[in-house]
Amino acid sequence: METIYYDLRDTKGQQKEIEDKISAAAKILREGGLVAIPTETVYGLGADGSNPEAVRRIFEVKGRPQDNPLILHVTGAQWLPRYCVDIPPVAYVLARKFWPGPLTMILKRQPSVPDETTAGLDTVGVRCPNHPVTLAIIREAGMAIAAPSANTSGRPSCTTAQDVVQDVGGRVDAIVDGGPCAVGVESTVLDLTCEPPRLLRPGGLPLEDMERLIGHIDVDKAVIASLSANERPSAPGMKYRHYAPKAPVTVITGAPIASAREIERRAGPGSGVICFDEYADMFAGRVVRSLGPRNDKQVQAQRLFEALRSFDETDVTEIYAQCPDNRGLGLAIGNRLKKAAGFHVIEADSQRVILGLTGGTGAGKTSALNALRDLGGQVIDCDAVYKEVLESSAEFQNAINVKFPGVFDAKGRLNRKKLGEEVFAKRDRLDELNKIVFRYLLPEIERRVEAAEGLYAIDAINLFESGLDRLCDRTVAVTAPTELRVRRIMARDDIPEYYARLRVGAQKPDDYYRGKCDEELNNAADSPEEFRKEARLFFERLVESILEKKRHG
Ligand code: TXA
Ligand code: MG
Repeated sequence: METIYYDLRDTKGQQKEIEDKISAAAKILREGGLVAIPTETVYGLGADGSNPEAVRRIFEVKGRPQDNPLILHVTGAQWLPRYCVDIPPVAYVLARKFWPGPLTMILKRQPSVPDETTAGLDTVGVRCPNHPVTLAIIREAGMAIAAPSANTSGRPSCTTAQDVVQDVGGRVDAIVDGGPCAVGVESTVLDLTCEPPRLLRPGGLPLEDMERLIGHIDVDKAVIASLSANERPSAPGMKYRHYAPKAPVTVITGAPIASAREIERRAGPGSGVICFDEYADMFAGRVVRSLGPRNDKQVQAQRLFEALRSFDETDVTEIYAQCPDNRGLGLAIGNRLKKAAGFHVIEADSQRVILGLTGGTGAGKTSALNALRDLGGQVIDCDAVYKEVLESSAEFQNAINVKFPGVFDAKGRLNRKKLGEEVFAKRDRLDELNKIVFRYLLPEIERRVEAAEGLYAIDAINLFESGLDRLCDRTVAVTAPTELRVRRIMARDDIPEYYARLRVGAQKPDDYYRGKCDEELNNAADSPEEFRKEARLFFERLVESILEKKRHG
């Protein structure tokens, strides 16, 4: 069939002409046709979401498995009640902040949404894309557009209209070119039918941004690892081999310099390499696609799928890909790379173990850290690094001074007690302070982690709030019974019981740390020496199991 091509890259030009094209695309949709549409994430293959016949054609053209539901694209949260029931308030909170944008919410569906669209599930995914052309088409068509990504099933998603022509040209009624996609990876899929909400697919909206707004979100297992044959994924799409170029892909994780060296060791003349800009020179003679600067995940996301696709025009026999860390957009980029690799992942710094340690006062974190030192480990004390960085950075001091005037004395020394009083029990002031501190502190911690070899521990109270947990191989909560903690800090700091209780009570409960960390080290020992011995054994086993996993996956 002939595919009509609508060029709508420039929406500032001839208004009449633009409106005509939008009306024409909307008309095709109303009549049950298929139209490829631009969004900020990736191109979609759209049809009238309430027309079972039209939706069935999407599956045919894409070669998509029948059990994989589609997302409904709408122009705002006011559309939710048309397609969903039992909508929790948090859906509106998220929509107000992040729509239009790369967030898909899974909600209970109205019975009127056809089974074809939801693949028979009693839930439906809804999202408001941030692209003026597609928003105009939805408005004009007066319907929610059901659309999966426009690639044929299994291939990397399309981030330009040319990709779409390649994959489904001649098999759809129209392709609307809205220019290259600004985000480059698909939307974040968040299940709101459970409590806490669950991340089913990391995407263009970082997990941290959502957690900052609505609190803790569980991360579905399929996001980080491949599911075994008998496991049922929460998002049906997560079980398929995906995004894969023809040549097999191997993902190399770890600090950028370490992963680059690992690829250098492995890649032969017939290999393809996906790497950060800084390392491209190391791979002369191979087919290299650079993903963008190592610290610019936004650019990496934009280039990811094009890089994967482009290898199919070459005759590389294998592909090695450098992988960013899991923070921010890195979680989505790493997920797509790992899926493209069928979760064939090699850890570059296989001799390095980074543990994150956290826990309340009096639980025994200091003894635990000493136990790690006994094993030859080194400790990155975030509080000490904070002081160092603060002392040496006028910019950092200034940033604090602007938001918290008067906390520095005449000699320019920070009055920590005064600052503490200012943020103590004031959640939003504490958030403000943390934001500044993290901005200046994290790059320094990252630098130290990257340079680390062997066993390292990051000692941070705000391990999770800062996102430092994502640099760690494993996180450990040091916990202890409250009564023991009270007695310990009474003895340690020589303070009366009521004050010790106050301090313990002002901190997050052990359950918080327990819920967040991968491991728990409980300290009910009679003496610090005894606990240190127990902790040493605990860490010895933990490190061994981590190394074992790194060696054999
Ligand atoms: O950015 C995007 O989300 C793009 C653009 C076009 O909007 N669309 C997209 O659609 O990536 P698709 O179909 O390629 O991926 C949708 C994912 C699949 O993994 C699917 O299984 C999951 O969302 N999904 C859709 N509806 C669901 C539901 N009711 N429950 C659980 N997962 C669902
Ligand atoms: Mg897809």
